[in-house]
Amino acid sequence: MQLEGKVIIVTGGASGIGGAISRVLLRRGAKVVAVDLNAEAGAKLKEEAGDSLAFIAGDVSKQETADAAVAAAVENFGGLNGLVNNAHASRQAPFTDLDQAAWDLSFNTGFLATRQFMLAAYPHLKDNGGSIVNFGSGSAMVGQPTQAAYASAKEAIRGLSRVTANEWAANNIRVNVVSPMALTDGVKAWSQAFPDLYEQSLTKVPLGRFGDPETDVAPVVAFLLSDDAKYVTGQTLMADGGANKLY
Ligand SMILES: NC(=O)c1ccc[n+]([C@@H]2O[C@H](COP(=O)([O-])OP(=O)(O)OC[C@H]3O[C@@H](n4cnc5c(N)ncnc54)[C@H](O)[C@@H]3O)[C@@H](O)[C@H]2O)c1
Repeated sequence: MQLEGKVIIVTGGASGIGGAISRVLLRRGAKVVAVDLNAEAGAKLKEEAGDSLAFIAGDVSKQETADAAVAAAVENFGGLNGLVNNAHASRQAPFTDLDQAAWDLSFNTGFLATRQFMLAAYPHLKDNGGSIVNFGSGSAMVGQPTQAAYASAKEAIRGLSRVTANEWAANNIRVNVVSPMALTDGVKAWSQAFPDLYEQSLTKVPLGRFGDPETDVAPVVAFLLSDDAKYVTGQTLMADGGANKLY
């Protein structure tokens, strides 16, 4: 499915799954505003993409970053059609060891950022419709040990997505969630910190491998952003090799 004529913001869009999403959307003809803390990865992406991409270096938990991303979409590309809330930083530890900073990190970069970007995008989507893709996690759905702060924020994002899918349907704004499983640098670091949990997760993937961000996850996001998905809203799509059945 093609995305010509669509302007899409991708948070955490310079590396990992977000970097793969930015690249796939660009290849399919979209204009992309990528937002990321990692300015170096952003500069590399900008060099590859040229005028079809605007890069905003910033922390997604700050309101000013959401405002800057929306302004960049309007100023560079004349409007906004889609939003991918992909960025989410977190720390893992047993519930009793998670301090306030860990809860703040997960809720500010995950839930709060998703809320702020959706609200900043809304005035530009409400008249012509649009598609929002938020990010969930299978580990949140099954209650993976050590993930209390992350899982709670992820399920809050899914709750918000279902409510806004209903509230904004009248504006033809679709809101869906993708729950991926992909071998990124973040997952590699997690697998080194918790090798037993990593091996355990792998045995539970019917398709037998962690996904590839670019060929296994980004195309699912592209589908939800495209007109092919114009009758799909309020859903969670599992791009996880069958690891978790839908809850
Ligand atoms: N990788 C997986 O298997 C997996 C599984 C379940 C859910 N997810 C979800 O998929 C999404 C992407 O995961 P990933 O593995 O690519 O993550 P990652 O950590 O590899 O990459 C995240 C990107 O977001 C950026 N980022 C981090 N904090 C930021 C902030 N405060 N402001 C702006 N940018 C920030 C990073 O610089 C990076 O470019 C996340 O929502 C994650 O929770 C991933």
